[in-house]
This record gives sequence, structure tokens and C-alpha cells, in this order.
Amino acid sequence: MADSHAKMTQATPREVIISLLAGLFAPLLAIFLIAQLVIGIQSSHKPDASSEAANKATVDRIKPFATLSARDANAPRVEKSGQAVFDAVCTTCHTSGALGAPKYENKGDWAPRIAQGYDTLLKHAIEGLRQMPPRGGDSDLSDIEVGRAVVYMTNAAGAKFKTPEPAAATAAGAAGAPKGDPAKGKAVYEASCAVCHAAGVAGAPKLGDKAAWKDRIAQGYATLYDHALNGIRGMPAKGGHADMADADLAHAVAYLLVEGGGKL
Ligand code: HEC
Ligand code: HEC
Repeated sequence: MADSHAKMTQATPREVIISLLAGLFAPLLAIFLIAQLVIGIQSSHKPDASSEAANKATVDRIKPFATLSARDANAPRVEKSGQAVFDAVCTTCHTSGALGAPKYENKGDWAPRIAQGYDTLLKHAIEGLRQMPPRGGDSDLSDIEVGRAVVYMTNAAGAKFKTPEPAAATAAGAAGAPKGDPAKGKAVYEASCAVCHAAGVAGAPKLGDKAAWKDRIAQGYATLYDHALNGIRGMPAKGGHADMADADLAHAVAYLLVEGGGKL
């Protein structure tokens, strides 16, 4: 009895090999399948440089970054009009009424919203409201641009809001800037501003370079003064001379403006 039992459990060498192979087979199969999967994923992700379509897809993918870096950092920002912002961003929802957006030119949709007043509308457009994404989903838009788009849309539906302008260009901004005398500005310029503005260091608009100054001068004297006072991008506040009198700075700005072809 005991003898026959021992015989049944005792495996022959052949049985051992078979069971070993069978035991190995399952993990080997698994490894093989995983390897196939990885290779498959890699080859489907491999950029196909030879294909025109693939190249175009890559260009499209990096376009937002490429365009961003190609933007001239020295060019003064020009705020887009309400219509331009609407056509580029807001129209997606506000023309068709997608997601329940109040429709362009639809007085019924807009009347109760307009009744909230411009400030509330602007706040909601900037911060978002339920299905309305902040800034319509374009975080590059400035407050002024969103404001202009709000005015563009609401005025088309019967509101009478005023189109917002950059603060510095308003009378209030102008009143804050001391008057500059270009005749007195030359000495200040030579002592404190020429370091950058003579040769165009760090992208500074050069003295007397009318092309470089045209768009900047179009912002108005008050804005230029404000930017010289507080700094803007590569332009340090007061050109880096914190102890300079505001009046001297104003003279230097006036000098740069007049030399750049502008009128005070
Ligand atoms: C993805 C769709 C979408 C886009 C894009 C979009 N909106 Fe809206 N917007 C909505 C929706 C939906 C509402 C209604 C929100 C609610 O009241 O629930 C709305 C409401 C508004 C309101 C009314 C807010 C209030 O207080 O009643 C303003 C103003 C507004 N949008 C401005 C804009 C501007 C400006 C843009 C473009 C810069 C823009 N929207 C782009 C979907 C959108
Ligand atoms: C360290 C270099 C440097 C110095 C010093 C400097 N600037 Fe500038 N300035 C710049 C650069 C760079 C810009 C362009 C900034 C931009 O628009 O990106 C600029 C721009 C300006 C602008 C145009 C701003 C605008 O809105 O377009 C004015 C005005 C100006 N500078 C005035 C002055 C005056 C006045 C002084 C001397 C008191 C001075 N700068 C000294 C680097 C300098």
C-alpha cells in the first residue's frame, strides 16, 4: 500500500522536465507579450521625420510656443479691439449660444446680465462664471482686452458702456506725469540713459531712431514717463538711478520723445 503510494507521487525525470517547461512557459509567454506591447507603443510614437504630414503635425504642436518666443518682447503691447478679441475667442460660444452662453446681439439674453452693471460683467468675464471660462479661456488676454470684448458684446445688445482704454493714456494718467523740458533733458540723458539708449543695449530703443520710437511715442508722453519711472521689461525704473528727481526723469523722457520724432 505504502509502496504503491510512493510510486504514484514519484515523478519520472521526463515528467519533471515536462512540468518544468510548462511552468516556465507561462512567464515566458507573458514576457514576450509585454515586449511586443512596448515595441508596438514605441513604434507608434516614433516621429516619422520623412512624412510631410508628421512634420506638419509637429509644427502645429509647437506653434504656440514658437509664436510666443518669436513675439518681439521690446514692442510695446498694443491692446486688441473688442471686435478682434470677440472674433478670436468669444465667438466660439457667444455666437451660437454654446453651453448656455448669452448670444451676441440677443437683447433678451443680455438684458438681465447688462443690468448687473459693467463692473460685474467684467469681473465675471475675467474670473469666469459657471460654464464661462476665465478670460474666455485665453489667459493671454489683458483686462483691457477682455473689457473691450465685454463692451463690444453688450453694446451690440443694447448697453451703452464706454470702451476701456489703458489707464496711463487717460487724463488721470497724464495729470500724474510732470512736464518734461527736452532742452533740459539732454544732460540727464547723457549722464543716465545713454548707457543703453545710445547703442540699443538690451533692446533699448536708440536715441533718434524714429522707427524704434514710433509705436512707443504713440502711447503718449504720460505712458512713456510712467514706464521710465516704474520700468518696463529690460528698462529699469528710472534707468537704474533710484535717486533721480522725477523732474529730471521727465526732462530725459521728453528729450528721447522729441529726438524720436514725437511732439510734446
Ligand atoms: C467656452 C465657451 C465660452 C467662451 C469661449 C466665452 N464665453 Fe462668455 N459665457 C459663456 C457662458 C456659458 C456664459 C453664461 C454663464 C452663466 O451665467 O452661467 C457666459 C457669460 C458671459 C458673460 C456674462 C456674465 C454675467 O455676469 O452674466 C460675459 C460678460 C461674457 N461671457 C464674456 C465673454 C468674453 C468677453 C469672452 C471672450 C473673451 C467670452 N465670454 C468667451 C461661455 C463662454
Ligand atoms: C540698463 C539699460 C537702460 C537704461 C540705463 C535706460 N533704459 Fe530706457 N529702456 C531700456 C530698454 C531695454 C527699453 C525697452 C523696454 C521694452 O519695451 O521692452 C527702454 C525703454 C525706454 C522707454 C520707452 C518705454 C515704452 O513704453 O516704450 C523710455 C521712455 C525710456 N526707456 C526712458 C529712459 C530714460 C529717461 C532713461 C534714463 C533716465 C533710461 N531709459 C535709461 C533700457 C534702459
